Amino acid sequence: MSKKIPLLIDTDPGVDDALALLMAFADERHEVVGLTVAAGNVGLDHTVRNALKLCEVAGREDVPVFAGTPDPLVHPAEDAAHVHGRDGFGDVDLPAAARAAEAEHAALAILRLSHQYAGELVLVALAPLSNIALALKLDPTLPQRVKRMLVMGGAVTGHGNITPVAEFNIAFDPEAAHIVFTGFPHIEVADWEATVAHGLLHRDVEQWLAADTGKARFYELISRQTRLWSEDSRGERWYAADALAMAWALQPEGATRLERRPLSVELAGTHTRGATVVDWNRQTGAPDNTTLLLGYEQARFEAQVRRALGLPA
Ligand code: BDR
Ligand code: CA
Repeated sequence: MSKKIPLLIDTDPGVDDALALLMAFADERHEVVGLTVAAGNVGLDHTVRNALKLCEVAGREDVPVFAGTPDPLVHPAEDAAHVHGRDGFGDVDLPAAARAAEAEHAALAILRLSHQYAGELVLVALAPLSNIALALKLDPTLPQRVKRMLVMGGAVTGHGNITPVAEFNIAFDPEAAHIVFTGFPHIEVADWEATVAHGLLHRDVEQWLAADTGKARFYELISRQTRLWSEDSRGERWYAADALAMAWALQPEGATRLERRPLSVELAGTHTRGATVVDWNRQTGAPDNTTLLLGYEQARFEAQVRRALGLPA
């Protein structure tokens, strides 16, 4: 079999992060070489604990887990416990995993792994960008060793989820996002609006989660609270942002519509802090520093989700 593509995931599990991680573990073409963990959906102690638990449930205790920074770089921010539960995994009192996180800091692990897999590494960010920004500040040559940098974040026409114009991962730590979007020459962006365009029908998800597999049972349990909240507040489709981003990372051939454009992050603004400003008409003369995901094959996305849960695709 040909060599697998090394995949490093920065994550803040988080219910949709958990699904994305299961998708990555289930993929035959990629090898997850580490999870670097950020604060975001809930505090760092919970997101680290959840990452370790998820690895255990997936039988992937071989994947090292690195804890990152507990706070946004500059300004404090509010978590998303109202969506993911106070513990980030639906408040179902899971016993802690047997294993602890590695001693190495996430930002240092990102740099070390970028050397180990120089020129091949795919870096997928499913969380606020605090760890990756720190890594970039420590070593601005990081992008030279990363083959693909993919971010779940932003709202490319200003239809946000945490404020009217901003998406959670960017709004939680806009300074970090600014550092990352100016430090990497090119970033693939799966934003919140793409997520909304690729919602999963609750009735389908419920059917998949009724399957008799360990992963489906676990995922049914930890996602129950957030799916109920979502159905109540957003209607018949569930928006699994990190899962869509991961589908694109793992199977880029499933993209049906992509646009390259300059993107910058708003740091100030009375109503717009954390917005991702896309220069759709290329008025600024800035280089196209992003590829934006606008369409992805829905059937391919859903097949990846089913496979991650242990069902036939
Ligand atoms: C993003 O924010 C988090 O709440 C999710 O895990 C996802 O990464 C969606 O806006
Ligand atoms: Ca996330």
